[in-house]
Amino acid sequence: MKHIQDIHLQAKRVLLRADFNVPMDERGQITDDIRIRMVLPTIRHIVEGKGRLIICSHMGRPKGQRVEAFSLAPVARHLELLLDRQVTLATDCVGGEVEAVVEKMTDGDIVLLENLRFHKEETDNDPAFSEQLARFADVYVNDAFACSHRAHASVVGVAGRIGEKAAGFLLQREMDYFHKSMDEPVRPLVAIIGGAKVSSKLGALENMLGKVDRMIIGGAMANTFLKSMGVDVGASKVEDDLLDSARKFVDAADAKGVKLYLPVDFVVADRFAADAVTKNVTFRDIPSGWMALDIGPASTILFREVLDDAKTIIWNGPMGAFEMDAFARGTMAMCQNVAAAHALSIVGGGDSNAAVKKSGEERNISYMSTGGGAFLELMEGKTLPGVAALDQI
Ligand code: 3PG
Repeated sequence: MKHIQDIHLQAKRVLLRADFNVPMDERGQITDDIRIRMVLPTIRHIVEGKGRLIICSHMGRPKGQRVEAFSLAPVARHLELLLDRQVTLATDCVGGEVEAVVEKMTDGDIVLLENLRFHKEETDNDPAFSEQLARFADVYVNDAFACSHRAHASVVGVAGRIGEKAAGFLLQREMDYFHKSMDEPVRPLVAIIGGAKVSSKLGALENMLGKVDRMIIGGAMANTFLKSMGVDVGASKVEDDLLDSARKFVDAADAKGVKLYLPVDFVVADRFAADAVTKNVTFRDIPSGWMALDIGPASTILFREVLDDAKTIIWNGPMGAFEMDAFARGTMAMCQNVAAAHALSIVGGGDSNAAVKKSGEERNISYMSTGGGAFLELMEGKTLPGVAALDQI
């Protein structure tokens, strides 16, 4: 993968694919700008190198329609503030009007194209649409790690049509941290996998089994594992169609010598609600009709001990329904324990990142990935199409 620092940028038109798919409130205010700030080093590098910077991104899933709520206008304003320089928002991402704006650019100028997904050709990876985007530029830079698992026109199609292409600083950083933690880890390497569904994480679990020394499984997905081992989990969320896969996974971990840790106690509730009646019980005592919504204090202590001598930790998925305070304690404690470990710690996925933010431990985590789906695909051992496309001749 070629790096942006290896490219001469002066007077060149540089098409930068960023992922500015940021959360916004109902007033159109950006509520978390981390994905924008993480691309600033690449943006500054291009501008200081006197390139003519054309940035493109998607926002939300407008399904090929122009939907004003998904306009990148708030991002353009926010970028201007962060950079303290003019950012021109084009009315669209392709077409004559945009071409005219690009034509007038001079060295160091910044144009942000309007939401790529206002055209369904973007997600279709349409060749003609890729060609239209490619016409804008002499150099293509991908710094959109969080959507590099999407084989879309601006991620894959366009890369094959521009000779000079490279990874921006964010993409490099994401891939470096992932590589360091999964391919060349200082051991012991501990994976913490949580979240609601085994079905969405099975590929990652299976791939990780060949790499990690220990694995902690928490969140609602732990219920399926426990039930597969004969534990009565009451009314807890379970994927019954995956009981067999879960059982096989436990056996495979055993055969590989990977130590698997499941919760030994829970905070259970009489219903899924913030004001539900709750109590702490061991995994053997979940009352019928009650559901496990967080790991309990004994599990927290156990998991802290598992992390105690870890040298590398990779974490995806919360330990419970942490969005409700009554069930946040296990996930918050996990944030503190990962932060306190003397280990390289990598956290990825929207929920785990939100949990770390809520805990205030952000600065004590080695690296917080900007990716959700992309991070998970790396955990599954897949090559991201957007990364592979940078190597195409
Ligand atoms: C994300 O938020 O994970 C990326 O921006 C990708 O978005 P998508 O899932 O809509 O493709």
